[in-house]
Amino acid sequence: MLQVSARDHLNPASTKAVILVGGPSRGTRFRPLSLDVPKPLFEVAGHPIIHHCLKALAKVPDVREVLLVGYYDETVLRDFIKDATKEFPQFRIQYLREYTALGTAGGLYHFRDAILKGKPERCFVLNADVCCSFPLGEMLRLFEERDAEAVILGTRVDNDAATNFGCIVSDSHTKRVLHYVEKPESHISNLINCGVYLFATECIFPAIRSAIKRRTTRPRMLSYPSSDNLESSFVATGDDEDGEKSEVLRLEQDILSDLADSNRFFVHETKDFWRQIKSAGSAVPANALYLQKAFQAESEELMAPSATIVPPVYIHPTAQVDPTAKLGPNVSIGPRAVVGAGVRIKDAIVLEDVEIRHDACVMHSIIGWSSRVGAWARVEGTPIPINSHSTSIIKQGIKVQSITILGKECGVGDEVRIQNCVCLPYKELKRDVANEVIM
Ligand code: GDD
Repeated sequence: MLQVSARDHLNPASTKAVILVGGPSRGTRFRPLSLDVPKPLFEVAGHPIIHHCLKALAKVPDVREVLLVGYYDETVLRDFIKDATKEFPQFRIQYLREYTALGTAGGLYHFRDAILKGKPERCFVLNADVCCSFPLGEMLRLFEERDAEAVILGTRVDNDAATNFGCIVSDSHTKRVLHYVEKPESHISNLINCGVYLFATECIFPAIRSAIKRRTTRPRMLSYPSSDNLESSFVATGDDEDGEKSEVLRLEQDILSDLADSNRFFVHETKDFWRQIKSAGSAVPANALYLQKAFQAESEELMAPSATIVPPVYIHPTAQVDPTAKLGPNVSIGPRAVVGAGVRIKDAIVLEDVEIRHDACVMHSIIGWSSRVGAWARVEGTPIPINSHSTSIIKQGIKVQSITILGKECGVGDEVRIQNCVCLPYKELKRDVANEVIM
């Protein structure tokens, strides 16, 4: 267990938070970017994905402790936690490592003593791989108003996308959750689970315990409909102190539908932005949404609009951008990147140490660490409709990624055009390529 804390003595807080960060076997759809950085630490809008969760939690006054729960090696998150502890001194940040993937509820249950330490009354649980405005204050208000056991954040999506998510049937007047089904086979509702919850601690752990007990009497599901296809649904890991088998347990399938049977499970429907960060390409809309939010909040991290800056644009202070390059909207430029004269960049993430030579054009793309884009080259994807929850499109009858992604240390030759491609690390692209995965 890794502990990094600015303060050794904490007063008991009434609200804690858990961020479910997953582990190395998850996030496979985030390849090739997750080959070089764990998905929760990938930078969108100038900050690691989980930094955006911490920033939202920092606005909730009584959250004094945030637990990151996952199964990455401790070393993976150590530097991030050190930096975040300095930036967010209002809470202690601790990483709790599962010895294996225990599932979204299994991890919570395994670390229940750590979560319950200090007797918090409530606990936020956030999926690390969502991008939204995290209206935690509103969730807390609803929780208190209704004396809730649980509040879930929901959003409306198009009917044909809804079955890819957990679906919520609610009473629109009382906001009570009447029915919850994880990734149903047919349409039941277009109000979906955003992966952000607030639980009464006195309710969630007994609910998980009951689910464990039921396991012994009910046949088990062999495969859960996780969008990342969790490989083994059940990991027999021995008995815990109650003599119960510790197994993979998922909040969504094992707990939430039962909570809906209680009268104290409510949904807060957000009208603000919300996206999942699953495929590598989904980092581009997430980058755009977080940049737009920062721009609305008049963040000083962003560049001021000008003839060559179409906001919102984030440029790391160590990057060098030629004054004749035109950037934006929705562009993030990473540390030490060099952008040459006459370059055009739009809806893109340019990572650390990238070089983009003069007159190149980069749109709807991610340029991986230390990659080089030649002079007059074009690296481009296809714009995604604003309300789309998918980053794949059909081109010439084939499903391809709408966002072009270059992995680490790729090279694109002068005047070469790369379109709707995913390129694995260390590739040299010397001829035009479209709609391919370049291995
Ligand atoms: N600690 C830990 N341990 N975290 C995990 C584990 C685990 O064994 N398994 C998954 N997670 C984390 C992932 O890293 C991610 O942040 C979150 O839990 C949910 O991941 P999935 O299990 O892959 O679920 P999903 O993304 O397909 O669906 C969930 O999220 C949707 C919203 O994005 C469900 O909650 C859906 O109902 C919901 O709509």
